[in-house]
Amino acid sequence: MKKIGILFGMENTFPQAFIDRVNSKGEKDIVAEAVSIDKVVQAAPTEYAVIIDRISQDVPFYKAYLKNAALCGTAVINNPFWWSADEKFFNNCLAEMIGVPVPKTVLLPSHARPTDTSESSFRNLKLPLAWEEMFEYIGFPAYMKPHAGGGWKSVYKVTDRDDLWAKHQETDQLVMMLQEEVVFDDYFRCYCIGQKDVRIMGYEPRNPHHLRYDSQMKATGDAAKKLLATMEDYVLRLNKALGYDFNTVEFAVRDGIPIAIDFCNPAPDADVYSVGQQNFEWVVEAAANMAIERAKKQQVGKNNLTWGTFVRTSAMNQPLTNLAKGDVEKASVSVAEPTEVPAKKAAAKPAAKATKKAPAAKAKTEKAATKSTKK
Ligand SMILES: Nc1ncnc2c1ncn2[C@@H]1O[C@H](COP(=O)(O)OP(=O)(O)O)[C@@H](O)[C@H]1O
Ligand SMILES: [Mg+2]
Repeated sequence: MKKIGILFGMENTFPQAFIDRVNSKGEKDIVAEAVSIDKVVQAAPTEYAVIIDRISQDVPFYKAYLKNAALCGTAVINNPFWWSADEKFFNNCLAEMIGVPVPKTVLLPSHARPTDTSESSFRNLKLPLAWEEMFEYIGFPAYMKPHAGGGWKSVYKVTDRDDLWAKHQETDQLVMMLQEEVVFDDYFRCYCIGQKDVRIMGYEPRNPHHLRYDSQMKATGDAAKKLLATMEDYVLRLNKALGYDFNTVEFAVRDGIPIAIDFCNPAPDADVYSVGQQNFEWVVEAAANMAIERAKKQQVGKNNLTWGTFVRTSAMNQPLTNLAKGDVEKASVSVAEPTEVPAKKAAAKPAAKATKKAPAAKAKTEKAATKSTKK
């Protein structure tokens, strides 16, 4: 008997639906259940052939548990080692390497110094930084957001440099990215499961949460076909390079070109009350099939993790230019029609803030970044 476990937090709809779906398929010798932990002992295997991880980004204890599980042969989805190493600025750099368009982006040192560092920890920074060059490259308005973040936390739209200094002061020790604003005609969110199944969903980020997946594509005819094919190609390229088996990719479409905005979502929203019934049905089915496939392939005592082409080319000492070849095999793609979202109390959640009010205090121009607000 091979067990598939799911590890989850506050979400209420996806985990049980996933368990029920796997168990409804009548696969001999495969059963799904919620992961159950009563102790974690180093180098001791878990009882799971596969674990779907939906929560370790918020629970470091689980992340450590999963690395131990992976080392002892569990196929952990997504790969907890890669997930620990990954962040959004790197993702953008990799996207450029593999020919996927991304907004122009620069990295900013944190406003507050990291705990237990001092001014001398930053002697390699040439201050003032080359702000004029950065502003010239990015332009205003721009987006400023954490280089490793999610859930729309600390995502700001900044109108000019004063606005940037003011908002940067709110970000404490977060390392931020400053990014070109993409003014879009269309916006999409795409599930990618097992690096082969893609679900392209219209998404309107300016709507409240429960209405975001209720968006109709503006492109029509051949332009729409071309756009869908291009997004499918980009979604697969990104996930194969990164090595994620369960992820979403967001695109803002400008002049017919999909530009990847956010593709580091290894525990993406899969709640029926936000994604809607049809998208939910798709993701439950695709995730169940992927988990079963992985359980069948899982070999006891071996490394059953997925690694992306970035790590694999690095480990095999191949030229990184091999990454640019794309490595896209035939995939199954599904395009979502805008769907009714089931009415429920959860739908009344307040929309996350895309911008925050600037504080009254203004930072001094050149000194904003790296100036500590703390000792
Ligand atoms: N460069 C950008 N241009 C236009 N809109 C953006 C840009 N970056 C972020 N956004 C908007 O902000 C939202 C949240 O940013 P995102 O990068 O997806 O962060 P998170 O990982 O927190 O979801 C996006 O869904 C999009 O609506
Ligand atoms: Mg996002």
